[in-house]
Amino acid sequence: MRTVREISELRQILTESRERGQIIGLVPTMGNLHDGHLALVGAARDRADIVVATIFINPMQFGPGEDLDTYPRTFEADREALETAGCDLVFAPSAESLYPRGLASHTKVVVRGVSEGLCGASRPGHFDGVATVVSMLFNLVQPDLACFGEKDYQQLTVIRRLVTDLHMPIDIVGVPTVRATDGLALSSRNGYLNEPERRQAPFLYHTLVEARTALEAGADMTATLDTARQQLAEAGFKAEYLELRQADNLEPVQSGTTHGVLLAAAHLGPARLIDNLAVRLP
Ligand code: PAJ
Repeated sequence: MRTVREISELRQILTESRERGQIIGLVPTMGNLHDGHLALVGAARDRADIVVATIFINPMQFGPGEDLDTYPRTFEADREALETAGCDLVFAPSAESLYPRGLASHTKVVVRGVSEGLCGASRPGHFDGVATVVSMLFNLVQPDLACFGEKDYQQLTVIRRLVTDLHMPIDIVGVPTVRATDGLALSSRNGYLNEPERRQAPFLYHTLVEARTALEAGADMTATLDTARQQLAEAGFKAEYLELRQADNLEPVQSGTTHGVLLAAAHLGPARLIDNLAVRLP
């Protein structure tokens, strides 16, 4: 596995791969890798001849007061995990090379509609930062396919819309959420939880499971969501949102919607947790 820091070197290696007719798969990450990230590498491995992972803590997607400075940085362990998972190349650029004139005057990619509301409401500019850096990575790597986790469902929806609207010839592969045995979705931010909080955290998932069961059995949507929000509050979570939306475009469900998705974001202690579940509406 090669580690590349410079854009010019990345371009040279990948031009050669492309000339050999290799299919290139991309897995963008911010590092501090866990089995969720490695499932993306596995999905890319299954579909591509050469797997490129990127490790870059993207300053543009962090808001003021968010955890940019404290975000866990574990580069050596990440490299080892990627190598074991069958990654061929790690691209870990500096912020200066991706944003040479700084953030404020850098071109921004705004994906309208699906990036508004839900996490977009409490994290203004977050999805602009994600769409911008992912566009840059797509241009640098020019992958045939790119893998993203369903764990960040709104992000996956934003990326799908990005490639559709900008006519990028990249196949976006959504990979199911990898969970701990107690149901908690794996996340780099779970490391912010202390022991009692970590024991409490899977309740978010279990609340969504219970709400899904009720909705799939035809229960009233408003009452079901209210009950779920109340349960979270009683369990010590500060819920930011808990919503049922259409799975493909994240718009509110309508009569006749069959493919829904339950999405939630909640604070528990110092951590902001997100999770979601697909719902087949009757
Ligand atoms: P990061 O949080 O490091 O996540 C990288 C990728 O791993 C994302 O596609 C995310 O959805 C996926 N992922 C995280 N936890 C997962 C889990 N438990 N199961 C399955 N997949 C999981 O998301 C980002 O970085 C950044 O926003 C990025 C796309 C790299 C742009 O900076």
